[in-house]
Amino acid sequence: MGNIKSKRPVSGIFQRKRSQSPQTDKAIASKGTASNKTPTSCGTSKSNRPFTAEEAPYVLPADLSEVDRLTQQHYMFRALLGSLHLAPFRKKLNKALDVGTGTGIWCMEMAEKHTDCQIVGVDIATIQPSTVVPSNCTFQVVNALEGLPEFQDNTFDFVFQRAMLGSYQDEQWPVQVAMYKRLCRPGGTVEMMEFDGHLKGFGEHGKRLNDLTEKMCLARGMNTYNAIRGKEYLEKEGFTDVHEVIKRLNFGSRHGNMGTLAVQDFEDLYKGLGVLMVQFNFIGEEELKQLIIDWKAEVEMEENETYIDLYVMYGTKAGEEEESVEAAPLADPVPPPSSSSN
Ligand SMILES: C[S@@+](CC[C@H](N)C(=O)[O-])C[C@H]1O[C@@H](n2cnc3c(N)ncnc32)[C@H](O)[C@@H]1O
Repeated sequence: MGNIKSKRPVSGIFQRKRSQSPQTDKAIASKGTASNKTPTSCGTSKSNRPFTAEEAPYVLPADLSEVDRLTQQHYMFRALLGSLHLAPFRKKLNKALDVGTGTGIWCMEMAEKHTDCQIVGVDIATIQPSTVVPSNCTFQVVNALEGLPEFQDNTFDFVFQRAMLGSYQDEQWPVQVAMYKRLCRPGGTVEMMEFDGHLKGFGEHGKRLNDLTEKMCLARGMNTYNAIRGKEYLEKEGFTDVHEVIKRLNFGSRHGNMGTLAVQDFEDLYKGLGVLMVQFNFIGEEELKQLIIDWKAEVEMEENETYIDLYVMYGTKAGEEEESVEAAPLADPVPPPSSSSN
């Protein structure tokens, strides 16, 4: 787990009872009642890990443990890619949007690198800092599934999303990408960075965790293969110069710091996803704890070469803009933070 352990909900998040059954959860997104100004409601679970919104189908808790996990995962992404993003920009950035910003760390680091650019991060959860935020960075608590009407068409030079696999139901993916297109100016860029929803090279415990994740997501109306279809969605929306870059993340301490971090990240991820797995009676709480322990041992065994693919998918919104100040992604060879193995 991360360094700070707390069962307290992150400040600003209120607790409210959420629906208990997968069937009810499938209808969540169509309700769409989130305020765009105040923190949204959240449910509680038997595990006391609070969730953010009843009106969004998101599958992970919003608490300090998750903030820790997302922060560590951010550095892992950055070290894996050597950059905060992969798309090159044709023009100097004036305005960028991060949808589902989480802790807001991506926005803050982008704001520091692009000091003339206004960076906006939106999320249903209020887990972003309210102080120590660069002056060109702002956060808004909104439900992106409501279409982000607070932003006009063609507003952003760069629209970004990362790790939204557990946020959008099947039919919502193309709708969200169409929304990104609306918000992006002609000549601007949309980039999506997503893990494949499935571990590869697993043993029996990895397979069980894969299967449970898939089952829980399906109960929530999410096919775990959707997130990596970004290239297809962008092409369908008429984006040009569409690219897909796949980076492999290997698990296990024999792969050094990154391999250890990957195991830690997924251990914490499974604990988070496990809240709904248990709530939906797909596995018992104690059984899940043991399964995660067994999986951690399994990935260390030489015969298992567990890995996951990270997909980076980006394209340009068709339209004007010939002037090019081609800026390759900022090289960012920062090593990952040292991991605290448990
Ligand atoms: C796995 S986290 C990724 C956070 C961040 N993009 C990152 O890479 O660190 C997914 C985030 O999406 C947010 N989210 C889920 N559904 C959302 C929605 N309908 N509108 C806005 N944010 C949403 C969650 O609250 C969470 O912070």
